[in-house]
Amino acid sequence: MKFTRKILHGLKNPYKGIKYLAGGREGKKSVLSSYVRNYSEDEERIEKLNDFLKIDLKQYYNEIFDNDILSEIEENMINYWNDFRTVGFSESRILYLLTRCYKPNIIIDTGVNHGLSSAMFLLGLHKNKKGHLYSIDLPQSLRKDISEKEKQGQIATYPKGKSVGWLVPEILRDRWTLQLGDAKILLPQVLKDVKECDIFFHDSDHSYSHMLWEYNTIWPHLNSLLLSDDIQQNGAFDDFVKKCGCQSQKISYRFGVVVTLTN
Ligand SMILES: C[S@@+](CC[C@H](N)C(=O)[O-])C[C@H]1O[C@@H](n2cnc3c(N)ncnc32)[C@H](O)[C@@H]1O
Repeated sequence: MKFTRKILHGLKNPYKGIKYLAGGREGKKSVLSSYVRNYSEDEERIEKLNDFLKIDLKQYYNEIFDNDILSEIEENMINYWNDFRTVGFSESRILYLLTRCYKPNIIIDTGVNHGLSSAMFLLGLHKNKKGHLYSIDLPQSLRKDISEKEKQGQIATYPKGKSVGWLVPEILRDRWTLQLGDAKILLPQVLKDVKECDIFFHDSDHSYSHMLWEYNTIWPHLNSLLLSDDIQQNGAFDDFVKKCGCQSQKISYRFGVVVTLTN
């Protein structure tokens, strides 16, 4: 969570703000846990998607609780909290539920960072006992064009000895291929290999041109769903939907779903 967002949360929830600042390590952990495990928006989003996609995501919702692998992912986030720029926690559960429902063979996601979204897809594939996730991330260490602003505030720092995707537990990694480099180069290469993709998730470079490029590149190869985080950043998602004439749904201000015509 960005520092400014933490302050805004603190102002909106003064009790949590005080607990976070004054409660020591346990106080911080309990506040962070209440963000990670905030289920209050899940139901509305699930219902929206059930109506839109004519599916039943709810049948898998109980699997989110009493789940040792998910608890490990959540505990790692809570114990090592350092400017996590992840997909929203509620949206991350939606990634799991969609994976359970669609039983995809191939998922591709761009933008891994610590690895929450990838871990949630992989958790779904693990439970399905089938499918593979191809992930692409361009870590700052491989980028030549980092601005001063990014150098000062936005460089992801991983726990000591860890790197991109460290949140993904060992038990989920046999269904995962992680490639490091620019999606502009790697996405066409992955598509050349896999030919078709069932679910695609964009969460990498949120510039208008890059988002539109990813949507247009994946679309001819896509069987079921295009998912995108940070659609509020610019008009790329809306413009893409308008141009392809396809059905779409925004489940939150930042997360959009497009369904293919063949789905
Ligand atoms: C918002 S974070 C991804 C968060 C992740 N989806 C999650 O839920 O934990 C964005 C990531 O996109 C990566 N990225 C930025 N530009 C990229 C590009 N051109 N190709 C691939 N990855 C890129 C960054 O390195 C960063 O790790």
